Amino acid sequence: MAQVPVNVTVTGAAGQIGYALLFRIASGQLLGPDTPVKLRLLEIPPAVKAAEGTAMELDDCAFPLLKGIDIFDDARPAFEGANVGLLVGARPRTKGMERGDLLEANGGIFKPQGEAINAGAADDVRVLVVGNPANTNALIAQAHAPDIPAERFNAMMRLDHNRALSQLAKRLGVSVTDIKKLAVWGNHSATQYPDITHAEVSGAGAAAQVGDEAWVRDEFIPTVAKRGAAIIEARGASSAASAANAAIDHVHDWVRGTPEGDWTSAAFPSDGSYGVPEGLISSFPAVSRGGRWEIVQDLDIDAFSRERIDASVQELTEERDTVRKLGLI
Ligand code: NAD
Ligand code: LMR
Repeated sequence: MAQVPVNVTVTGAAGQIGYALLFRIASGQLLGPDTPVKLRLLEIPPAVKAAEGTAMELDDCAFPLLKGIDIFDDARPAFEGANVGLLVGARPRTKGMERGDLLEANGGIFKPQGEAINAGAADDVRVLVVGNPANTNALIAQAHAPDIPAERFNAMMRLDHNRALSQLAKRLGVSVTDIKKLAVWGNHSATQYPDITHAEVSGAGAAAQVGDEAWVRDEFIPTVAKRGAAIIEARGASSAASAANAAIDHVHDWVRGTPEGDWTSAAFPSDGSYGVPEGLISSFPAVSRGGRWEIVQDLDIDAFSRERIDASVQELTEERDTVRKLGLI
């Protein structure tokens, strides 16, 4: 029997991440080679024409799994029946804008989108927020979707996770596939904590193999945490293909499960584990089983890790307090 297509709504579809993302979704890399998809593209009116151009190119690829493309400039119809929502479109920080201004501007985007998801998305909807500040944007959307389980609102930390894997693999001269049990905690910002204390390389402790705490503290962590800024500096634009790749990885693992014997990093509402206040959308070491994330429990957190996790969680708490004061949640 032919499978019913999965509706995937992508916001900011005409942007640079959108351009790197849509072709991979349509080719089957998001949900697997047996799952047909329908794309629902949301853009602001001035960018609809560009989204139409991308849709023409998608048609021209003749992807066997792509069963339709619809383009919207209104969140309500765009999220109607959505099974997956990739919230990429966001207001970028411009000159002179403070973090509070950015949060407020994004509240104007993620509040109505949360409401639209609540009103019309499919019962099994899964939402991944990519647009920055991703964790707090996800919190805003989630707060406006009271009928949807909060755990279905995620923020993307997979790019940070992949960056950490890559940096550690380079340092140790191994393949990224040799590394297991790496984690990035906290916020998708410079305060994030890429943690190798539990990581294993070909079954042995990664930290011992690195054998240099100063490298971890002074090079590895800042390189991963500030990689987004380094890409902007080098390209003159923020990461796009690597961000799209991470979104594919995140949703793929969420829906289809993480491999046995390993974990990944994902931000979703805290259940209070590891002292992270309940409800904050913070990154944890996580596995996905049966379509749900589970936090990896009972890890020993050393004093250095505790301090770094607390600092990033503190930043998330402040962002939550700011959007609360602005009446956005
Ligand atoms: P971009 O400026 O190229 O594209 C953004 C698109 O969003 C534009 O086409 C714009 O018209 C659209 N848009 C704006 N408001 C919208 C709305 N209300 N509804 C629908 N669409 C809307 O930006 P980009 O490079 O694609 O990046 C998108 C976002 O992703 C940025 O916020 C960026 O900072 C963020 N990002 C996050 C990560 C991460 O790891 N979480 C990594 C890279 C980039
Ligand atoms: C990234 O991590 O590459 C982006 O979040 C950077 C940015 O500010 O857009």
